[in-house]
Amino acid sequence: MSPDNFSALLLGWAEENKRQLPWKETNDPYKIWISEIILQQTRVIQGTPYYLNFIKRFPDIITLANAAEDDVLKLWEGLGYYSRARNIHHTAKFIYSNFNGKFPDRYDEIIKLKGIGPYTAAAISSFAYGLRYPVVDGNVTRLISRILGIVQPIDNVDVLKRIHTFVFSAIHGADPAAFNQAIMDFGATVCTPKLPQCDICPFHSYCLAYHHDQIKDIPFKNKKPLKKIRYFHYFDILLPDDHTVLVQRSGNDIWKKLFQYPMIESDSELMPSDEIIYQCIRKIFTHSIDNSYMVKKKLVSKQELTHRKIVAVFYQITLTLPTKKINKGHYLVERKKVSNFAFPKIITEYLKIKDF
Ligand code: ADE
Repeated sequence: MSPDNFSALLLGWAEENKRQLPWKETNDPYKIWISEIILQQTRVIQGTPYYLNFIKRFPDIITLANAAEDDVLKLWEGLGYYSRARNIHHTAKFIYSNFNGKFPDRYDEIIKLKGIGPYTAAAISSFAYGLRYPVVDGNVTRLISRILGIVQPIDNVDVLKRIHTFVFSAIHGADPAAFNQAIMDFGATVCTPKLPQCDICPFHSYCLAYHHDQIKDIPFKNKKPLKKIRYFHYFDILLPDDHTVLVQRSGNDIWKKLFQYPMIESDSELMPSDEIIYQCIRKIFTHSIDNSYMVKKKLVSKQELTHRKIVAVFYQITLTLPTKKINKGHYLVERKKVSNFAFPKIITEYLKIKDF
């Protein structure tokens, strides 16, 4: 199938099947940027309410640049991949001080911004400024590799080059924004990974994967190694006056700057030894504590991340200590105010079931 033919059929399909999405009704690069960052790793249905909330709370770059990072993270809570929120905030401040608050309008400047790669730069450049840069992501490589019947591994450099060349030719004579939106929508709704709708597909009679009955095999991916499992043991400490203790994650690890209960990471789901738990609790307070408290296991919860699986075990520990003396880096929080903090999803799951 020729790239021109592909483009004509794709745009014809889009005419009939346009999705009404809130970020399509604007050419404000700021709003398009936010929508694209949210949609990088999130489905439209899950991302839309987050987009609407975000734009309402931070309607422009200046408001976002002046916000506190914790407020930005709080709005992102539950969406995952929190570095996206930290990068958005960082980039808003960068644009505020280096571009006078005006979003750059050249692809080579846009792609240099933190958190923006070739896909997002192409999306913003085409949607906001009509620049001719095609988006190429997993949806697009799946569609094109099926049409062209590519049986080599999809992450092979030559395969990716071939797909890029095809898409660059295809966007050539088209309206770049309409082309990019159409190819995204088509990949997300028709040429889907598991159950593509080949019977209504306009490329049906050209698609080599369809003709060779290889839809299930293309795109071909080498088997992934098994994910490493990390075990997080969280201690929800019940203190007098209905307080608990939180800490903010730091360092170069997942969920940086989000909050959590004091925790121990181990290599199994089994409860850490009394001694190890004692050390963890002891570190919170400036004064010594006795070890007559009870540790009650409350919940085991699991979450799949891109390269890791997290198993979280939650325990409640009742202490009858005065609550003033706490070490730096720990926060004494009223239990009813815990939900004001931004947590990873695995902890909000626990907060939902917790019986105070
Ligand atoms: N996924 C990424 N960007 C998108 C967009 N603009 N519309 C729909 N799905 C998308």
